[in-house]
Amino acid sequence: MGDSIRVPSIGEDEATQLRSLFPIFERKIYLNSCSLGPLSTRSRAALEQYADDWMEFGAPAWWLRWIPRIERVRELFCTAIHGPTNNLTIHHSASSALSSIASALDYAKRPKVVISELDFPTISYQWLVKREVEVVFARSSDGVTIPLSEYERLVDERTAAVATSHVFYATGALQDIGAITGIAHRNGALAIVDGYHTLGMMPIDVAEAGVDFYVGGTLKWVCGGPGLTFIYAADSVLSTLPSVTGWFAARDQFAFETLSFEPAESAARFQMGTPSVGTVYTGVPALELLLEVGPERIYERIRMLTDAIVERADALGLQVASPRDGGSRGGVVMLRLDDPPAAVEALDKAGIVADARPGKLRISPHYFNTVADIDAVMSVLGDTVSPAVGAASSS
Ligand SMILES: Cc1ncc(COP(=O)(O)O)c(C=O)c1O
Repeated sequence: MGDSIRVPSIGEDEATQLRSLFPIFERKIYLNSCSLGPLSTRSRAALEQYADDWMEFGAPAWWLRWIPRIERVRELFCTAIHGPTNNLTIHHSASSALSSIASALDYAKRPKVVISELDFPTISYQWLVKREVEVVFARSSDGVTIPLSEYERLVDERTAAVATSHVFYATGALQDIGAITGIAHRNGALAIVDGYHTLGMMPIDVAEAGVDFYVGGTLKWVCGGPGLTFIYAADSVLSTLPSVTGWFAARDQFAFETLSFEPAESAARFQMGTPSVGTVYTGVPALELLLEVGPERIYERIRMLTDAIVERADALGLQVASPRDGGSRGGVVMLRLDDPPAAVEALDKAGIVADARPGKLRISPHYFNTVADIDAVMSVLGDTVSPAVGAASSS
């Protein structure tokens, strides 16, 4: 990159201004964007527009309003991940996207798929259900990260793909997907990345990482709601053919050809059936807002806020079960506690929304959170919880 103009960071004032777009903050301190991003006034207005268009036009809403919006959302996803529009199609959920991808691989000569034990279960399920596939799990020694040496050890000439997360949902560890892709490619395998916890949280460049497939969606950090995900498929895999499909994947869907199936040449070949148009509506302003605020600035602010959590947790003697180094962490910080659901309840009573995964409290600040929000969480935790008994020092 040449000389780039340094954009100003999002400060407390701007964050406070931006959160006025998210009315939940009038009643709550929201710190659970990694689970479900909050609804903005812009996306709410879009949802109302969806109902209005449906009511006004009926079926013609498809070509007058809905299809142009689907194209817009595709363009926005492409801008957000730096991928060409020919290589991206929309889906319903991360699971449906992954199942479509899993159905496109050839396991005859390469029956092995490497997945990490820290991945969200829906990733492994895609391959555990396939009798012809041998799923091999990359193991973690610290329960937080997977060393690259594990992938090096497991990926070989029998491996069809490495399928793993960009950021782990229950540790917040950020994986080096460029390096993982390198390991996969050196062995003739594909790299499939679940980026549900990265899109909207940090800048993404799929071409730079070199991944073959990348999946993400609007549910979490994009704040666009459930029902809209995407598959990015690199040129290297555009000729593969999923066996889980639908009429939206056909080269000419409106030819209504029943006797034979010709797949689309673009990534549309990974599509299935009618998309969730409501979330296409909410997703457009959500993605526009992210791009307007700026992925680099968002990531910088999230790092500052997660650093603040780590610092304050240390001061309280709580064990951080996420990477301590900000560069190895996404937007999630896990704190190991004796009774995480009780902590979630205590926070809820104080008007703070966080969540828990087994043995850990999960806190996920977004760019519209403030340092005062983090202080509020820590004040409740300081008053109500004790560190996990027998916990080793932070990992
Ligand atoms: C990393 C990751 N992938 C996939 C999913 C599940 O996605 P979906 O319900 O869209 O299949 C989740 C959880 O919501 C997740 O955290």
